[in-house]
Amino acid sequence: MSEIKNITVIGGGTMGNGIAHVFAMSGYHVDLVETSRELADKALAIIDKNLTRMVSKEKISEGEKSSALEKIRTHIDIPGAVAHADLVIEAVPEIFELKKKILGLVDRNAPLTAILATNTSSISITKLASVTSRPDKFIGMHFFNPVPVMKLVEVINGLKTSPEVTKTIMSISERLGKVPVEANDSPGFVSNRVLMPMINEAICCVYEGVATPEAVDQVMKLGMAHPMGPLRLADFIGLDVCLDILHVLYDGFKDPKYRPCPLLVKMVDAGKLGDKAGEGFFEYKN
Ligand code: 3HC
Repeated sequence: MSEIKNITVIGGGTMGNGIAHVFAMSGYHVDLVETSRELADKALAIIDKNLTRMVSKEKISEGEKSSALEKIRTHIDIPGAVAHADLVIEAVPEIFELKKKILGLVDRNAPLTAILATNTSSISITKLASVTSRPDKFIGMHFFNPVPVMKLVEVINGLKTSPEVTKTIMSISERLGKVPVEANDSPGFVSNRVLMPMINEAICCVYEGVATPEAVDQVMKLGMAHPMGPLRLADFIGLDVCLDILHVLYDGFKDPKYRPCPLLVKMVDAGKLGDKAGEGFFEYKN
């Protein structure tokens, strides 16, 4: 496998801009793609803000911030952005048809040697790999929000991922200062298969009147040392995202233990999606 120097990140949302941030901080050239100039500028402004926060906490110097920013170029067209990529990471919304369209375009335009990775939180890696002509060079690279802070990268092998590609992605993750953990493709992988039933159960406690959202979160924060309670975390992740992942688990295993709590469904229907909507289990004024 040739050396990985140029990274293209498709999607500049919360996960995409975080991924671009950590690669640029580790010295990689990053091409970041968004759908409009306005969104590309917004993604870059968020990276700038998060790097500034790291400077003010004295974690990095002004010089390190500037050199990280200089390593990022933004684009609004995929073919140009992937033309020289060694590794492409797709981080677009969790809609299979959208990912299929984008991965097809990436596959047709990226060098044949390039590894294609997806940051999907739950869509099958094997299924996504099958829309490309290189399933052996396709892999899951699942980052966690906030990407610059969270140590884990869940590295997920599709059915045809080559061991060499897995080895390369594990070592790149380490170069980012992360801890990669390998898993095989299965609904929800490890992270969301374990996390989402806990969040769902916390929602059921509220639904059944066992306790208030505040009380549920206090129990898990003070009793189990979780940095955020499960309902605060669900708001942070996005209640629509949690519901989508529970659907993947429920459909994938056909096991009623993954049935989404009716309160979660109702809140998503009402547009109470968590932080991004200003309201979920809790309110977010800013
Ligand atoms: N960029 C850079 N640094 C950041 C940051 C960002 N976007 N966000 C937070 N930080 C830094 C802060 O500067 C601070 O640094 P310090 O320790 O040196 O002071 C540190 O992170 C903690 O931040 P804050 O002081 O602002 O706030 P908290 O102490 O409340 O921590 C938190 C915030 C890190 C988000 C913490 O609450 C936490 O770890 N929560 C759990 C997050 C989690 O579980 N994420 C995974 C979600 S699941 C997922 O992403 C997968 C998907 O598939 C669903």
